Parts: sequence; C-alpha cells; structure tokens
Amino acid sequence: MKRIAVLTSGGDCSGMNAAIRAVVRAGLAAGLEVIGIQKGYQGLIDRHYELMSTKSVSNVLQRGGTILQSARCKEMRDMAGQRLAAENLAGMGVEGLIVIGGDGSLNGALALTQQGTNVIGIPASIDNDIPFTDMALGVDTALNNIARAVDNIKDTASSHDRAFLVETMGRNCGYLAVVSAISCGAEYSLIPEEPYDLEEICQELRRRYQQGRSNSIIMVAEGAGNAQKIAEQIKDKIGFETRAIVLGHYQRGGSPTVFDRLLAARFGQAAVENLLSGERGKMLGLKNSGIQLTTLEKVISAGIRPIDKLLPRLASNLAV
Ligand code: F6P
Repeated sequence: MKRIAVLTSGGDCSGMNAAIRAVVRAGLAAGLEVIGIQKGYQGLIDRHYELMSTKSVSNVLQRGGTILQSARCKEMRDMAGQRLAAENLAGMGVEGLIVIGGDGSLNGALALTQQGTNVIGIPASIDNDIPFTDMALGVDTALNNIARAVDNIKDTASSHDRAFLVETMGRNCGYLAVVSAISCGAEYSLIPEEPYDLEEICQELRRRYQQGRSNSIIMVAEGAGNAQKIAEQIKDKIGFETRAIVLGHYQRGGSPTVFDRLLAARFGQAAVENLLSGERGKMLGLKNSGIQLTTLEKVISAGIRPIDKLLPRLASNLAV
C-alpha cells in the first residue's frame, strides 16, 4: 500500500482535526502518501482533494470543526454515486480510505466496501448513537459544552424561581440529555428511548417548588420533543415561569477535551495500522479502554446504539 486517503463526513464534531492529524502523521511515519478529501463524500464525487504533509496538520489538534470540511452527500445514497466515488478513489491511486463520521458516513463506508474499496471507519458523532463503541469521537467535548451551558443556566434559573427546558442534540438517541442530567444535576431528562408523562412531571415540579426549591432543569433530547412547546405546556399546567433554550450547534464546536484528543490519536493511528495489516470494511471502536474492530456490516445492521438502562435510572435516583 502506497497511498491512502482520509475524509470527514456528516455532522462535524470536535476531535475530527485531531483524528485527521493522527491519520496523516501515522501514515507518513509508515512511509505512505496521505490524501485529504475535501467535504466528505462530495469531495470524492467531485475529485476535490489535496496531498497532505506533516505541516498541513500542524496547529489543528486543538481546533474544533474539521479542516477538510464536511458535508451530507446525496449522491452517495445511490449506487451510481457509490460506484463513481470508488472509481475516483482508484483513479487517484488510493488503496485505502479512512472515513471519520457518524451513522450516515459509516453507511457510505459500507457501500464503498461493497464496491471493492478498502475502508476503515472511525466513529465520530456527538450523539453517541453508533453501536460497537463505548464512546464516539466528539461526545465528551459536547458533554462538556453542555455542562458549561447548564451550569450558567442554573445560576439565572435559581435567581428567578424558574424551570428551564434545555434541548440537546440527539435525533434518535438520548445519551447527551441523560448523561448531562446526571453530570449537571438536572431534575429530569426526556429522551426518545423512554416514554414520559408530562402531567406527572408537573405534579412533581409543583411539589418541589412548594418545598422551597428555587429552580428546575429539564434536559430534553431533540428526538424527545420540542423544548419550547414543552416549556409552554408546563407553564400552562403549573403556572410557574418556564424558559426554553435550544443548545443546537453550540454543542458541536470548540476545542476538544483531552479525552477526545487522546481517542482521536488512538483511532487515527489504529486506522492506519489496521489498513496496513490488511483489515478492511471495519469500524474501530472503544471497548473497555481498548480498541476493537467490528465489521461495517454488523455496525450498520445493528442500527442505533441502545442506551444503557442504568443511565436514566441513575439520573432519576439522584434527582430526588
Ligand atoms: O448527527 C449529529 C447531529 O449533530 C444530530 O444530533 C443533529 O440532529 C444533526 O446532526 C444536525 O444536523 P445539521 O448539522 O445538518 O443541522
């Protein structure tokens, strides 16, 4: 193997730059040429790429976002686009591809594998909804971003006896909301994996205020409802003042935490080493502090990573 390529695809997250840097430097150290594909799979379709040097990844480790940029690519959803992407890679002389991204990106990685491309996937998505890895890249930084926001919100909430509904990302997965509830001491977390009864929550909130509590924080995963609407419903039911805040893309940016920097370094190096040792069509994952490989087929057919049932129980036990 003489030439490999790396791309970042789907929603960006902190730690992607650190992973690109690790891939480039581990690749160069192994005597490979490393190509950076711009804007994810779109760059493969449009043949938009550059030869990377050690200098092209200097001073990026600590930066959020992705220097290669990212995109959600429609063409990669059909066979013609997938074939073109694989042909373009072969035309560039690329013998191995490293895809850094979330579920959609890993779907693309599987499609390219089926077209005969040698691919290794690095799970990266703040949602932590990718199976066969305890943590995806970017999750820890997003949780720290959320914690900073909720700590600030608590200050103002308690000054005004208000209940705040804080909406986190997570279309299908409540991991960010529930882990933030535990780490920020929120009263509730509403997540898509578990049904909730707003009437019951309101009764409980009323009881808390009667006992003299000065604020309540309710974390809402994007996939579990609209924070603004829920805030209005709660206000109508209990009469207390409510406010809603949607953290949105704020969660995805910023300098990666040390956890994410280290994970990115380990994933990046392992991706290069595994390509060189002949592994293909697999995703790297973090399991019991070690790096494991799972076939992309297994990852995709498993769907969304299930939430550890202990987490919602822990969040509600500690919120009494
Ligand atoms: O999948 C990652 C994610 O951040 C989701 O949590 C969120 O729903 C989505 O991306 C937002 O996508 P976009 O950046 O396209 O608005």
